[in-house]
Amino acid sequence: MFNLMKMSDLSDREIYELIDRALALKFGAAPVKRPDLLVSNLFFENSTRTKHSFEVAQHKLGLTVINFDADTSSVNKGESLYDTCQTMAAIGCDLLVIRHPKENYYDEELQGLTAPVINGGDGSGEHPSQCLLDLMTIYEQFGTIAGLKIAIVGDIKHSRVAKSNYHTLTRLGAEVIFVGPDTFAEPSLGQMVDFDEIIEDLDVCMLLRLQHERHVGTKMSDVSSYHQDYGLTQERYDRLKETAIVMHPAPVNRGAEIASHLVEADRSVIFQQMTNGMYMRQAILELVVAKNSL
Ligand code: CP
Repeated sequence: MFNLMKMSDLSDREIYELIDRALALKFGAAPVKRPDLLVSNLFFENSTRTKHSFEVAQHKLGLTVINFDADTSSVNKGESLYDTCQTMAAIGCDLLVIRHPKENYYDEELQGLTAPVINGGDGSGEHPSQCLLDLMTIYEQFGTIAGLKIAIVGDIKHSRVAKSNYHTLTRLGAEVIFVGPDTFAEPSLGQMVDFDEIIEDLDVCMLLRLQHERHVGTKMSDVSSYHQDYGLTQERYDRLKETAIVMHPAPVNRGAEIASHLVEADRSVIFQQMTNGMYMRQAILELVVAKNSL
């Protein structure tokens, strides 16, 4: 069975085929409609973009969508993740999209599941559909990924977006550097550098959300000093190359990672990322359906 849980589940060729397909869908190609298939979205952690752009993508593919509501389900009676997901497979769901706060929940909790899974984010682990929509947005802008200089800025340690993107961008030939306080560094990925020393060299300035909900025992008390030291201020924005782009997976803490008015600035592609995400999720759904011969 083919599951998309992490970016290493895809070959380089499959990544570029997904980008090409998502761009074709964006510019008018007809989606492969499958009204005979049922898909269930099981989100055990909050989401606006991932959940609803998967849902829009599923409607565009003609799929029947069953949105699972954890708050009113038997999860509250102690049902395990495996039992919940296998129940959805047993009652006829052909495909599951799952977000869960536990890192690597799939390997630990879902062995033996009979329906394929697309990972909508696992704790601080991976976020493959966000990574793919980010790659699509970068590729759409530059026509390449190899050779670009990309800073991932902020809360690297708690970010599944940072992990998926770092590994995939470097694999595809981009240079990735990290910016942020040392307390947010992930030593297995790399050290932090000074934002002001590299800002003029960047092709992509990729900001990350401060993941307050994952800061167990350490509350970020001074957001304005974080913004001055590590945020995209107007002064830093003015030093970016004319051709550089500003990205953020969102939701955005306006005034922390980025000055609020810069979310809609000329070089910001933050809302374009969301638009692209819906097309990329159509392409992902098509791929998973095809690879599992559904
Ligand atoms: N970027 C992202 O995953 O957003 P949501 O948490 O709203 O899905």
